[in-house]
Amino acid sequence: MRIIVTGANGQLGQELLRLPNAERQGVSLLGFGRGGLDVTSLQSCREIVKRYQADAVIHCAAYTAVDKAESEPDEAFRINAEGTRNIALAAKEFGAKLVYVSTDYVFDGTASEPYKEGDATKPRTAYGRTKLAGEREVQAVGGRAFIVRTSWVYGKYGRNFVETIRGLAKTQDEIRVVNDQFGSPTYTRDLAEFLIRLAQTDRYGLYHASGSGVCSWYQFARAILEDAGVRDVKLVPCATADHPRPAPRPAYSALEHGEIKRQGFEDLRHWREALSAYMRD
Ligand SMILES: NC(=O)c1ccc[n+]([C@@H]2O[C@H](COP(=O)([O-])OP(=O)(O)OC[C@H]3O[C@@H](n4cnc5c(N)ncnc54)[C@H](OP(=O)(O)O)[C@@H]3O)[C@@H](O)[C@H]2O)c1
Repeated sequence: MRIIVTGANGQLGQELLRLPNAERQGVSLLGFGRGGLDVTSLQSCREIVKRYQADAVIHCAAYTAVDKAESEPDEAFRINAEGTRNIALAAKEFGAKLVYVSTDYVFDGTASEPYKEGDATKPRTAYGRTKLAGEREVQAVGGRAFIVRTSWVYGKYGRNFVETIRGLAKTQDEIRVVNDQFGSPTYTRDLAEFLIRLAQTDRYGLYHASGSGVCSWYQFARAILEDAGVRDVKLVPCATADHPRPAPRPAYSALEHGEIKRQGFEDLRHWREALSAYMRD
């Protein structure tokens, strides 16, 4: 099986392309960064899917600057909605499956228990609206497609919360972290392996795939420092209101993995266990 990866220079794209052979389950992966495949060009999407005779496309390319999207909503829409339509059309035309990676930001964050796949969406940010528009494009094109919502992604190949906390711990005596936003950290490795398993099946549809379990950013930071063996830095819980940002963050965005279980897939491991594995890696 031959799988094309869009956004191959991003955090998740790089993880997919660097998975050890044993984890690739016999599939060959071909990655394209923005330079090799700009998803805003339908022509490029068609050319690449056709030329490489892809059996599936894992679509990781996205406009992911959540705060900046508030002042650049058109650009975010062009990439996240129109770009997703382009790749969905190309995949359908040439008989490839599509895996579209979406986000917990499609929800408004007012829940108090994990969001189910079928729960009502209500994005509160330009990023969330454009990613949801991407989901709708995938559904409208109607090929053999999977939509996979994930959250709080970190890994070896990008800037992320884990590395930010580790970096701050080297230079600060005290770190303030919000303790009133809850969600599920997701290690790119676990997500990448799930996406590859999924792409090999025909169990199309909408999935939630994040690290299992729920925590606050503060609890996540505490676990990071614990695993990094940092004891001389004071971690101080604070409120979201103390850190206003252009794009409001969901207060609660844990995702229930109902479809993973119903379709008989192995669930992603607990976020705490995954974090320790990441720190060891
Ligand atoms: N990170 C998270 O916490 C998180 C949470 C939930 C869902 N997600 C979703 O997970 C997916 C992967 O995220 P990530 O963390 O790997 O993001 P990332 O590191 O920002 O990677 C996204 C990649 O997409 C590329 N890209 C942007 N516009 C493009 C275009 N027009 N054509 C082709 N490539 C383009 C970017 O290239 P440039 O570097 O050139 O801009 C970047 O390499 C995205 O769909 C994101 O929405 C992420």
